[in-house]
Amino acid sequence: MNAVKQPQVVHTRTDLQAALSKLSGRRALVMTMGALHAGHLELVRQAHQHGDHVVVTIFVNPTQFAPGEDFDAYPRTLEADVAALATVGADLVYAPAVEEVYPHGPARVTIDPGPTAKVLEGATRPTHFAGVCLVVNKVFNLVAPQVAMFGRKDAQQLAIIRQMVRDLDMPIEIVGVDIVRDEDGLALSSRNAYLSADERSRALVLSRALRSGAQLAAEGASAEQVVGSVRQVINSQPGVELDYVALVDPVDFTAATHGAAVLAVAAKVGSTRLIDNAEVDLQ
Ligand code: PAF
Repeated sequence: MNAVKQPQVVHTRTDLQAALSKLSGRRALVMTMGALHAGHLELVRQAHQHGDHVVVTIFVNPTQFAPGEDFDAYPRTLEADVAALATVGADLVYAPAVEEVYPHGPARVTIDPGPTAKVLEGATRPTHFAGVCLVVNKVFNLVAPQVAMFGRKDAQQLAIIRQMVRDLDMPIEIVGVDIVRDEDGLALSSRNAYLSADERSRALVLSRALRSGAQLAAEGASAEQVVGSVRQVINSQPGVELDYVALVDPVDFTAATHGAAVLAVAAKVGSTRLIDNAEVDLQ
């Protein structure tokens, strides 16, 4: 990978503010938890089209992990991440410690992410989206971007962040960026690093099932038929434990029966929980 431009890396809010004060023009923000892959780099590439400067945050946010989830095991690869960001020309990287983001300990004022956060991912991870909204809100306040990029792979997260920005009048444009997949269809995720070679090949059933579901929808199948077929394909793969298959409205994640919908799946492959989705059109 050839470096385009070495980003400035800062770790404290004081250094962040000093660095931000030197950037004039429109700021585009890409928030990440590190362990960067081509999907993150695509967020940065597209961020350049929306702002004069791209600010990337790298922070494994403890408040979006429940006890027993993979907060401790989550890959932390700062040096490699900064090298990868140099190839796409990020201007500034903010990689704070937990105490820098939560200097007063656990926040006493928090954000209720509302009903969209209670279904699908929220049913399995009830505190997850409140933690996401909290850290996104804090970073929005610290960085003050005009635009922020989020991947469509986390479609429910994107929907909730759009609602937060709308309902709390945050003056920030939210841009969704398409899922980046490996050649064999696997949606890129930092958690793919947990998969053994065997698990990785089993995990391909998710994108395969979504493709066949989207095809059925395009041929006029009902929501029930599409969901039933995706469920059947995934359940037929040994070593993959399905959590949910759902067709939901892209804005509020209520059940969708016609029009544009998100076909969303989650499953455990070994001990790794993966999510994926496809945008479909129900007739
Ligand atoms: O999508 C993620 O990686 C995280 O949820 C985010 C948006 C960086 C907040 O910690």
